[in-house]
Amino acid sequence: MADQNETHASLAAEEPPLSGDVAALRAEMADLTEVVTDMHKRTKHLQRTLSFLTRQTRAIPAHVQAVQQLLTRFPPRAPLPDVGGWAMDPGSLLWMVDHVARKQAGLVVECGSGTSTVWLARAVQESGGHLVTLEHSEEYLAATRAQLEAHDVADVVDLRHAPLVPTTTERGEYTWYGVDTTGLDGIDLLLVDGPPGTTGPLARYPAMPTFADSLADGAVVVVDDVSRADERDMVEHWLAEQPRLRRAQKLGLNTEVLAFG
Ligand SMILES: C[S@@+](CC[C@H](N)C(=O)[O-])C[C@H]1O[C@@H](n2cnc3c(N)ncnc32)[C@H](O)[C@@H]1O
Repeated sequence: MADQNETHASLAAEEPPLSGDVAALRAEMADLTEVVTDMHKRTKHLQRTLSFLTRQTRAIPAHVQAVQQLLTRFPPRAPLPDVGGWAMDPGSLLWMVDHVARKQAGLVVECGSGTSTVWLARAVQESGGHLVTLEHSEEYLAATRAQLEAHDVADVVDLRHAPLVPTTTERGEYTWYGVDTTGLDGIDLLLVDGPPGTTGPLARYPAMPTFADSLADGAVVVVDDVSRADERDMVEHWLAEQPRLRRAQKLGLNTEVLAFG
């Protein structure tokens, strides 16, 4: 009897109390839940990346076709600046040069210079129109100017250096091109592709408050980078604020055309 009691006592001493087990299990469960939640987040991120890459890959034949059409329409006079990436997609460039030709656009205004400046310049040179381009960066202003000269279109482009300055709109404060827009009336095509999104939230929102009163009846507003949430939100704000503006067409994965009038 004495032996039995001793055995029970020693077993009880070896086993931790039940409440200790539960606490340890709870802690382990919490750790596991954290791991599973993290894996779930990573899987979702990978799925989104894969779906983005799939859509990009499927778009390659359309890009190739658009480049072929651009080159046929405007044989290059010098090495061409890049398309895609930081610059617009070839399909969107093709749509714009075709629009300028079909509508015989007189005044085109572009926010953010680069590859599109060269193609739009070729289009307005042919249509007898005029391109006004706003660029905040001195470095890229110089690069775009060199491209325009190399492609023999500098004379149809009013390339303006417009450093970003604080700007007040009805939605609040932004930074926007510090430029005098007097005289920019009757815009047939407004391209909104600058300033870069890194310059602030809803960086391109002021484009519509700035130019709404200068758009011609039947004008189009081409908005690039609509694969980004900021540019999609910006379009929603514009549509809510401008009753004369409506969605017209999506160009590829990254560009949207709005119609005015
Ligand atoms: C979204 S990019 C687009 C510029 C232009 N609309 C295009 O499609 O080529 C906007 C800004 O990128 C900058 N940029 C211009 N040329 C560039 C280049 N070669 N590499 C990187 N950024 C450039 C300029 O400051 C420009 O305002």
